Amino acid sequence: MTNKSFFIKSYGCQMNEYDSEKITSLLLKDGYSNSDDINKADLIVFNTCNIREKAAQKVYSDIGRVTKKNNNKTIALVGCVAQAENDEIFKKNKDVDIVLGPQSYHLLPKMIDAHNEYQKKQINTDFIINEKFDFIHEEKSPKGVSSYITIQEGCDKFCAFCVVPFTRGPEYSRSVINIVEETKSLIDRGTREIILLGQNVNAYSYSDEENMTYSISKLIDEISKLDNVKRIRYTTSHPNNMDQELMRLHGSNEKLMPFLHLPVQSGSDEILKNMNRKYSIDEYKKIIDGLKTYCPNIEISSDFIIGFPGETKKDFQETLALIDYVQFKQSYSFIYSERPGTKAANLEDNTLLEEKKERLEILQQKLQKIQLEFNTSFCNTNLTNVLIENQSQSNPEYYFGRSTFLQPVYVKAKNLTVGDIVPIGIETCNHKSLYGTIAH
Ligand code: SAH
Ligand code: SF4
Ligand code: F3S
Repeated sequence: MTNKSFFIKSYGCQMNEYDSEKITSLLLKDGYSNSDDINKADLIVFNTCNIREKAAQKVYSDIGRVTKKNNNKTIALVGCVAQAENDEIFKKNKDVDIVLGPQSYHLLPKMIDAHNEYQKKQINTDFIINEKFDFIHEEKSPKGVSSYITIQEGCDKFCAFCVVPFTRGPEYSRSVINIVEETKSLIDRGTREIILLGQNVNAYSYSDEENMTYSISKLIDEISKLDNVKRIRYTTSHPNNMDQELMRLHGSNEKLMPFLHLPVQSGSDEILKNMNRKYSIDEYKKIIDGLKTYCPNIEISSDFIIGFPGETKKDFQETLALIDYVQFKQSYSFIYSERPGTKAANLEDNTLLEEKKERLEILQQKLQKIQLEFNTSFCNTNLTNVLIENQSQSNPEYYFGRSTFLQPVYVKAKNLTVGDIVPIGIETCNHKSLYGTIAH
């Protein structure tokens, strides 16, 4: 036990946020207190992301900033940069004390003790598959209305641009019992919407002791049996794991939201081939069409990579054409970032950065226009089902909620109950959010 305090900073994806919550609870259990001031904490945990160069570099400038003020802290660099850069990290920054990969974060308390006792740097980047989930213990603290739960981790797909198979390791799925238990604990503590997480969440596959195999569809059905689960989402899906059963479920399971994040990355078959995505644009469109026959009001969001090596103006035009076809309602788009150790790092890349920036700007303008048109279509209508997530601290007459399509909805109202699903009359909007009052 200790009277020390810690501060944790998360970079990257939702899974890192989820991991940071688990690391927080492990440290609290070990007697640490949670500090909200990075400069006062005794221990700082940087939970890092390696997906693009910028994300990976940011942690080093952040470490520099805190150690410049006070060099007497324990610094733990955990997560995907830890896995990818390994003991190189100690050479890059001498202030780092502990390096720990994302599959072994449950070892952090022990490593801190070892570091304190022997005053020696500690490192663990083993892939100890699934073990960390045995260390997630029963928690009592209140939870938000919408909570993540990791059901699948890792990736076997090796897209040419991506570090995830190297940082998170091979694909594996958590047990159904384990997931249902954690879901029950979340709803007991206030959660009403469950977001199932995985690097390839729809590749989920788990066989129990009786040799019953659970796909993500079966798992969703299982979770939706719990009364207080009002909404279910899952992310991130891979097009090649989008089977008919799951597509059909969007039309038959009322708790499963009509919104799907299905990253396409590019609208060009040639680029998709070079990315090693293993689907064509025709196949992607068939999935979208299929989803719409089962669930006509479903909306789609995506990730795009702009300026992958060899992307021509024509390839880029094809991406724009796909956006016209699918009408993505939300998207993340970034310029391609070369990552050490990936296949694409060896490809010739002749497109100037300026040209890539222009393409990104065109793409983002187009996506934003679609988003604004979509949001505008709700003005002067009633949205029947907005899940209220919280009440504004500074102005209690305002509440924040989300539509079934994940649109942020700001509501001016008195006495709403957080966690309820309510009808909202939408009055105004911008491309990001909707604004309204209770519908009567
Ligand atoms: N498993 C998911 C994506 C996980 S990574 C899928 O297959 O779609 C999250 C996003 O980061 C990717 O969708 C991709 O758009 C982006 N990304 C990954 N590597 C990148 C790179 N080297 N440069 C730019 N963007 C990248
Ligand atoms: Fe990365 Fe591709 Fe795996 Fe997604 S499917 S995590 S983009 S390698
Ligand atoms: Fe980043 Fe690792 Fe997530 S590289 S995007 S934190 S899986």
